[in-house]
Amino acid sequence: MRIKNICCIGAGYVGGPTMSVIAFKCPEIKITVVDSSPEKIKAWNGPIDKLPVYEPGLSEIVKKVRGRNLFFSNNIKDSIQQAQMIFVAVNTPTRTSGKGAGMAADLKNVESCALDIAKYSNNNKIIVEKSTLPVRTAEKIKEILIKENSHVHFEILSNPEFLAEGTAIQDLFKSDRILIGGDPTPKGRKAIKALVEIYTRWVPKGKILTTNIWSSELSKLASNAMLAQRISSINSLSSLCQKTGAKINELSKAIGLDHRIGPHFLEPSVGFGGSCFKKDILNLVYLCQYYGLYEVAEYWNQVVLINDHKIKDFASRIVNKFSNDLSKIEIIILGWAFKANTNDSRESPSIYVAEQLYLANASLSIYDPLVEKDKVINDIKTYWKKSKNFKKIVTDISVLGNQKFDIKSYDVCVILTEWDEFKEIDFKGKVVFDGRNLLLKVPNKNYEYYSL
Ligand code: UDX
Ligand code: UDX
Repeated sequence: MRIKNICCIGAGYVGGPTMSVIAFKCPEIKITVVDSSPEKIKAWNGPIDKLPVYEPGLSEIVKKVRGRNLFFSNNIKDSIQQAQMIFVAVNTPTRTSGKGAGMAADLKNVESCALDIAKYSNNNKIIVEKSTLPVRTAEKIKEILIKENSHVHFEILSNPEFLAEGTAIQDLFKSDRILIGGDPTPKGRKAIKALVEIYTRWVPKGKILTTNIWSSELSKLASNAMLAQRISSINSLSSLCQKTGAKINELSKAIGLDHRIGPHFLEPSVGFGGSCFKKDILNLVYLCQYYGLYEVAEYWNQVVLINDHKIKDFASRIVNKFSNDLSKIEIIILGWAFKANTNDSRESPSIYVAEQLYLANASLSIYDPLVEKDKVINDIKTYWKKSKNFKKIVTDISVLGNQKFDIKSYDVCVILTEWDEFKEIDFKGKVVFDGRNLLLKVPNKNYEYYSL
């Protein structure tokens, strides 16, 4: 079967860029991206420099394909009805209540997509799981689809996304691998073939791996867990370096030169952030516990605990330097995004470091070149757990967003995102805490400098 019409549910960081690239590479396929948020669809259809997701190279692609074979629409019913293949790219946050609260993935968004698909489908569909999901979710989706609509056949595939924010377009163009999991039945194999054909338009066949559905679902969780594990490992060693006089950048280089280990994901940091790592590891931990594998669960949980510890420890170093009282100190937080080249701040270490500084009475300003003011304020409202008086907080803090600022007004500068532009700032006379080791290589510093 040749696919000519695709629908994608979820116009977020994964759905938007992924569908833009498929549309760009396959001009004969009509792709409609729908979302439960009308504002998001409006923004995707709005000015090209104000798309809801910032990714280098994304707007150029959207400009070429939007209105040609890529459409953003609120009409979920028609888009589902017309599609042969439906990608599910909605978010799957950690459950906040009920069984598995704080650990397991909340599947309510995926379930609501399955209900919509069942309700509106009047011919056979291939459903592609793009969202990161716990192992055996496909079974659950299938159950809902069959229960709600027994007139058509639904074939479920798992095709997890491995793009990293900030390099999403590059990652989509030059993927290390494409993973497609499906059932080993004739219909399953046919569906896998249809999806393989889409990717072979630009991905070499040797990089497309087909597996059973459970291997595919688990590979995504395991890949993220292994990447995060490397960061926690190097971050745990950076704490030891501070005690012993070893240098973490030298250690990282020396370790990474062993070809069996390799140099990637050994960059020390204030801690990893982003929507995936913590959520996916906790999900893995929950799965292990569910299957009674308590030692395995404990092993992976430690990756998250080290990360939480690293974030707290970094904030404590700043607070301790001023004997636990920052009341007379003007601090600027440089960077709110969880990494450079994205406007995404989900699980950003900045959120947690900033709260600890605020609790020690610091006078705070927050700057990020891409994260908008409203988003910063919303993060504070949602995630600051110990500071309840939100009205007071927003009057106490100066959220600059991407507004220009005068570095002379601050005593202490805390770098939390590795934005290149921070390398250009003249920090003369300041105290600089560098949570990214961004300025480590600057010779002859004329400021007091604390690295990782
Ligand atoms: C993705 C994956 O899908 C998630 O599983 C992974 O762990 C992180 O990356 P992402 O694209 O980053 O999620 O999420 P987000 O940017 O929040 O986009 C999800 C979109 O789905 C939102 O625009 C939201 O409005 C939409 N949505 C959510 C629906 O359209 N329907 C729903 O029922 C729920
Ligand atoms: C991650 C995975 O890399 C990607 O394959 C998956 O699809 C989604 O989750 P993402 O979270 O977008 O991607 O970005 P990533 O580059 O992995 O960075 C995650 C966090 O780790 C960031 O906060 C980053 O600053 C931090 N990091 C990364 C380090 O602290 N050190 C490193 O060496 C690398």
